[in-house]
Amino acid sequence: MTRKLFVTTALPYANGAFHIGHIMEYIQADIWVRLQRMQGHEVHFVGADDAHGAPIMIAAEKAGVTPQEFVANIAAGRKQYLDGFHIAFDNWHSTDGPENHELSRDIYRKLKASGFIATKTIEQFYDPVKNMFLPDRYIKGECPKCGAKDQYGDSCEVCSGVYAPTELKNPYSTLTGATPVMKSSEHFFFKLSDPQCVEFLREWALDPQRLQPEVANKAREWLEGGEGESSGLGDWDISRDAPYFGIEIPDEPGKYFYVWLDAPVGYLASLKNYFGKTGRDFGAFMADPTTEQYHFIGKDIIYFHTLFWPAMLKFSGQKVPNNIFVHGFITVSGEKMSKSRGTGISPLRYLDIGMNPEWLRYYIAAKLNAKVEDVDFNPDDFVARVNADLIGKYVNIASRAAGFIAKKFDGKLSMDWATDSDAFLATLRSAGSEILALYNGREYGKALRAVMDQADIVNAYVDANKPWELAKDPAKAAALHEVCSRLMEAFRILTVYLKPVLPQLAQQVEALLNLAPLQWSDAAVAMPDNHQINPYAHLMQRVEPKMLDALFEAPETEAPAAAPAADAGTASAKKNLPHPGPLPEGEGENSGAIEALAPEIKIDDFAKIDLRIARIVNCEHVDGSDKLLRLTLDAGEGRLRNVFSGIKSAYQPEQLIGKLTVLVANLAPRKMKFGVSEGMVMAASAADEKANPGIYILNPWPGAEPGMRIH
Ligand code: 2FM
Ligand code: ZN
Repeated sequence: MTRKLFVTTALPYANGAFHIGHIMEYIQADIWVRLQRMQGHEVHFVGADDAHGAPIMIAAEKAGVTPQEFVANIAAGRKQYLDGFHIAFDNWHSTDGPENHELSRDIYRKLKASGFIATKTIEQFYDPVKNMFLPDRYIKGECPKCGAKDQYGDSCEVCSGVYAPTELKNPYSTLTGATPVMKSSEHFFFKLSDPQCVEFLREWALDPQRLQPEVANKAREWLEGGEGESSGLGDWDISRDAPYFGIEIPDEPGKYFYVWLDAPVGYLASLKNYFGKTGRDFGAFMADPTTEQYHFIGKDIIYFHTLFWPAMLKFSGQKVPNNIFVHGFITVSGEKMSKSRGTGISPLRYLDIGMNPEWLRYYIAAKLNAKVEDVDFNPDDFVARVNADLIGKYVNIASRAAGFIAKKFDGKLSMDWATDSDAFLATLRSAGSEILALYNGREYGKALRAVMDQADIVNAYVDANKPWELAKDPAKAAALHEVCSRLMEAFRILTVYLKPVLPQLAQQVEALLNLAPLQWSDAAVAMPDNHQINPYAHLMQRVEPKMLDALFEAPETEAPAAAPAADAGTASAKKNLPHPGPLPEGEGENSGAIEALAPEIKIDDFAKIDLRIARIVNCEHVDGSDKLLRLTLDAGEGRLRNVFSGIKSAYQPEQLIGKLTVLVANLAPRKMKFGVSEGMVMAASAADEKANPGIYILNPWPGAEPGMRIH
C-alpha cells in the first residue's frame, strides 16, 4: 500500500549559518525520506527558517537592516549546504511567509473558539530606554546567592544557583545597560492544564507504540508533575508585547505570538507553500486520515514537540503528528558542541576542501541509531569507516569486476539465472527485508552493519573465485564472465541497500550499470541476461587523512609577508624579551610615536561595534584602483560579503585567500565607485607612515571561526 507521508526537520533559527548539528539532523531525515521514496511511497519533505522572535529582531537592528532583510540574507545561504550534502527537501520556506501568518492566526482563532485561550496580567522586567519587555536572556545582574557580577537572569555561572530574574541584585538590561523596571501587561495563555488537554496528551504521548522510550519517559515526568499534583502542565504563555518580530494576534493590536507558537506551524506553512507551487490541495492532504506526519528533532526541543504542538493541533481540530523522531547531539572527539561556537567542523569548510559529502552521510548513518544518543565524530574512526568499509568492502567490488566485463565481454553481462546456483546472491537478496526494517526503524548503524556483512560475503566470493586468475587463462573465459556478472549483480543489490545513504554514488552506479533509478524492490529482481553495462569510471576516492587535518586545522597565523623583513626581525626580537615591569620612559616599543588615544568611551559605545571573525574566501585586484583590493568574506552568516579594502600596497590577493581576519560587521553598507562595500576589515598602521608605511591586517589566534563575535 502506498503511504502518504509528510516529513519535516526542526526549523532552524534564521540567525546563523547551519552547523554540523543541523546537517546531521538533515542527513538523518533525508535517509529516511529517500528510503520511503524508494519503496514507492508519496513523501513530502519540507523545511523552513524559523524567522521570528526577539533575538532575530535585535540582531537585525544591530546589523542595520529590517528583520525581513536579515532573515532573507540567512535564507539565501541555505542552498549551498542543502545541495552540498545532498539533502532533498521538496521545499524550503520561512515562518514569516504569508501561509504561516494565516495558519497561525487560524489555529489561534480555533483554540480561542473552543475555550483554550485565557488571559492573565503578568509583571515583567521592562527596559525603559528601549521601551520593550526584556526576555530573561537580556537581563543580567548580581547573583542573589553568591553576589557574582554579570550573571544571567535565570542562573549563576559561578555558584550554579537558580533563581528568577526579579531576584537579581542591581539588574541591568544587556541591550542598553538601563536598570529595568517592573511593568505589567496582559498575556495570552494556551490552557494546557485543561483536563481535556492533559487527558489527550497522556493518551497521545504515552501510547507505547509512539515515542522512543526515553522521550516517553520525559513526557511522563512533565505530564505527571510533582507529588500530589494531577498534572505538571501549567498554562503556556503564547504572547509577547510589541516591539516583537512575529505574527500579530488577531484582534489584539500590539500583541504577537511567542515564536514557539508559530514555529511548528511553519511545518504546515512550508507544506502549504509547496503544494501551492505544485498545484496540490493542501487542505485535502491534511484532512486525509491516511496522511502520516513525522517530525525529526533534537533532544533539546522535545517539550515543544511532544506537548505544545500536538495539543495545539488537536484542539484546533487538526491532524496530530504520528510521531516525533528525536536524536541526540553531535560531539567532536567527545567534545560537546557549543551553540555559539559550533564544533570544530564547519560544514562549508568540509565541502570547500573537497571532502565528499557522501563520506559524511555514510559516517553519520553508521553512527546513528533510534535512541536519543549523542553521535561522536571521531576523525580516525571516520577515515577507517569510509576507507575500510565503504571503499574497501563495497566500492572495490565494482572495480574488481567491471573492468573485465568491459574489456573481455564488450560490456555484456552473462546472467543465466535459470542455471544460477550461487547461494550468496540468494542470501544477499533475502537480507533486504531485515535491512529495510532497520532503516525504517532509524537503526541506520545496524542497517549499514548488515549491508557490510553482505559485502563481506561478496568479497569472500571474489577471493574464492579469483577473477584475476581466471582472466589469465582463455579457456576460463566463460567462468570469468559468470563470476564477474554475478559480482556486478551483487554490487547492484548492495547499491540498492546503500542508496538512501549514498544517493549520488547510487546514481553513478545506475549510470555504470545502465539502469533506471533503483527502487527498493529492484534488489529482488536480477538484471537480464546479456544486459549491456557502461565502461567503469572511478566511483569514489579514499579519504586522505590529511584532509581531516585540513578540516580541523587552526587558521594560519604567520605574519603577513608584506611586513618589511628588518622590522619583522626587530619586532620579534623585542617580543621575546620578558618585560620585567613598567618600561623606563622612552623605552617602550615605538615610544612617543603612537597616535594619540581617541576620547574615552563607555562599554556600551564599544558594544555598538559588531566585530566578527571572517574568512577571506576570495581576494582580487580592482580594475582602475591602485589602493583597493576586493575581498569576499564569509562571516558565518550563510552569505558572503563584498568588502573593498585599501590594502593593495601591502598584500598580494593570493596571500590573503583562506586567511581569517576581523570584520566590522555592522558598518552601514557604503556605495563606492567600484561597487557596494559591506563592512570593513581591520588593519593596523603606524601614525608615522614615513617611518613605517606598512599596513597589517588583523589575523586571529588559532581556533577562531567565521562568525564569532569579538568582545
Ligand atoms: O531550537 C530551534 O532551533 C528552533 N528554531 C526549532 C523550531 S522547530 C519548529 F517548531 F519550528
Ligand atoms: Zn552565584
